[in-house]
Amino acid sequence: MPDIIQLLPDNIANQIAAGEVIQRPASAVKELLENAVDAGATEIKLLINDAGKALVQVIDNGKGMSETDARMAFERHATSKIRSIDDLFRIKTMGFRGEALASIAAVAQVELKTKRAEDENGVYLEIENSLVKKQEPVAMENGSSIAMKNLFFNVPARRNFLKSNASELKHIVDEFIRVAMAFPEIFFSLSSNGQQVFHLEKGSLKQRIVQILGSSYNAKLVSVQEHTDYLDVLGFVGKPETAKKTRGDQYFFVNNRFIKSAYLNHAVMNAFSEMIAKDSYPMYCLFIDLDPAQLDINVHPTKQEIKFEDEKIVYAFVQSAVKHALAQFSITPTLDFDLDAGIQNLDAVNKPFTDEIKSSAASSSLYQTFTKKNQAHFIENKSELRHWKDFYEAPSASKGTSPDRPLAPALTQESFDRGEFATTKSLSETSGLKTGQVLQMHNAYLLLQNDRGYLLINQQNAHERILYEKFMNAFSGKAIATQRSLFPATIDLSAADAVLLIELLPDLQQLGYLLEPFGQHTFVIQGTPADMEVGNEKTALEKMLEQYKHFSTDLKFSKREKLLRSIALQQGIKTGTSLAAKEMTSLVTELFECAVPNSTPNGKPTYMSFKKEELDKMFGR
Ligand SMILES: Nc1ncnc2c1ncn2[C@@H]1O[C@H](COP(=O)(O)OP(=O)(O)O)[C@@H](O)[C@H]1O
Ligand SMILES: [Mg+2]
Repeated sequence: MPDIIQLLPDNIANQIAAGEVIQRPASAVKELLENAVDAGATEIKLLINDAGKALVQVIDNGKGMSETDARMAFERHATSKIRSIDDLFRIKTMGFRGEALASIAAVAQVELKTKRAEDENGVYLEIENSLVKKQEPVAMENGSSIAMKNLFFNVPARRNFLKSNASELKHIVDEFIRVAMAFPEIFFSLSSNGQQVFHLEKGSLKQRIVQILGSSYNAKLVSVQEHTDYLDVLGFVGKPETAKKTRGDQYFFVNNRFIKSAYLNHAVMNAFSEMIAKDSYPMYCLFIDLDPAQLDINVHPTKQEIKFEDEKIVYAFVQSAVKHALAQFSITPTLDFDLDAGIQNLDAVNKPFTDEIKSSAASSSLYQTFTKKNQAHFIENKSELRHWKDFYEAPSASKGTSPDRPLAPALTQESFDRGEFATTKSLSETSGLKTGQVLQMHNAYLLLQNDRGYLLINQQNAHERILYEKFMNAFSGKAIATQRSLFPATIDLSAADAVLLIELLPDLQQLGYLLEPFGQHTFVIQGTPADMEVGNEKTALEKMLEQYKHFSTDLKFSKREKLLRSIALQQGIKTGTSLAAKEMTSLVTELFECAVPNSTPNGKPTYMSFKKEELDKMFGR
């Protein structure tokens, strides 16, 4: 047998290695933007065509490259940023692996133009399949322009794996925002297919946050500023009332590098605890700066994870910094900051971090005062309800006969349609609740009976189902009528949300919303669904978008499906709403007119039915 092992040709090895660094257009966006930042640019422009599949180009006014460096830059492991392994622990730049340009050149066609201040002419390079195809001098301004064209033109399998343009553009916008947020002193712009999406003038971090996340955060940001010898935590958190349904607006940067950390996120959530509703997410944009020696950023090629030398200290510090900030903005007059044990302990970072310190922080007067006084939202207590349900479920389960679950077909439309409720009356004389009557309990449940038993309906779930089917029908049949607004409201969105809304406009129109783009990220609400309450259309749309983003990573749903579910969820009658008799009857009627009355689109039950025989059995009758 001959020997069978061979070295892969360079370009194939490069293509394989590139997969780690460049997975999609957004990866190139991140790498190219970071290179421009590292080059000391004060103005960085990003141009995208076809969601980055055709073109990702970054133009900067940074320090540029010499002719030799320009060619060198595309070699694997070629970097000007570290020289030895020790440098890794002193790293101040965003890049250091020397892999990005080599990877990009392996999987796309690249055009580089670059010029240093000291050179008269710049250099122009064309590279394809890791090979230089063309090189010539070029007259240009100082700085660099790197264009990546036709990503994966030579790796069709990868190209086919790219998602829809909307989805790839979303990833690009995310990466762009992460870099732009970290460097407010740099001008950034983003144009997609020739249309400007972002234009971010240089300014303060606060200005940058508002530019990016929208003017709704104006005057709603609380400054976080804690300095110690060990680390600094700087940035902003949103006031509790700005907390949203999705975790979208949450950013951690460690030494200016965007990171994801469930652990540190927990620290912030803890600081907010009881100031916001359970399943809502506060906005934060926090910069943790510490000695690079305390970090290992070499964990993952795309570098979103970071290892801290001492994670617990960072946790405690972040939590205290946020608590401190929140306390200052909200209840300053009643507070004595000297009493905050958490923060004081943290200054002495050489002390071991113990549970004792943690619990003393939690029991400090600072914590106590503002957690009690600042319950911005009513937090629903479901425990009573749970016991109430257990009360019915437990005995039947032990006997092996559980109450008829909603998914069982026997008691759906056929038994519980409107007619039957209205006409049967055999039990009506013996019970307080008359057949056909509906009783609301806890402002959350509807109870109704017929001669076969009784039904317990969850009003919120039921309404979600009703709306979902109504909207779905609007797509297959007649659009929902629009009611023109007499005094059209306008809605201002962040650039990213505006991109999203534009995408949804045709579908929204089918559902009765008439929205017109007006200026860059502003829309005029010209009309709303005919049966919608007037006055809250703006909030409704904002909430709908939030809800939509909540689904946006869920690949299994189509865009339209996500929209339907979002609106149904958002417009549904909520738990806690008291309903008039007429509203209750129509809710019940409409529920049982649905094609699938027994569960919400997400599969939560809308009602439970309890048969009379089973009740009788339970009581030994
Ligand atoms: N926009 C730019 N301006 C100036 N130099 C650049 C630019 N982009 C890349 N370079 C040079 O090319 C080198 C290789 O870049 P890259 O492959 O991204 O690796 P890294 O950023 O990890 O060093 C960099 O170290 C830098 O010297
Ligand atoms: Mg780089």
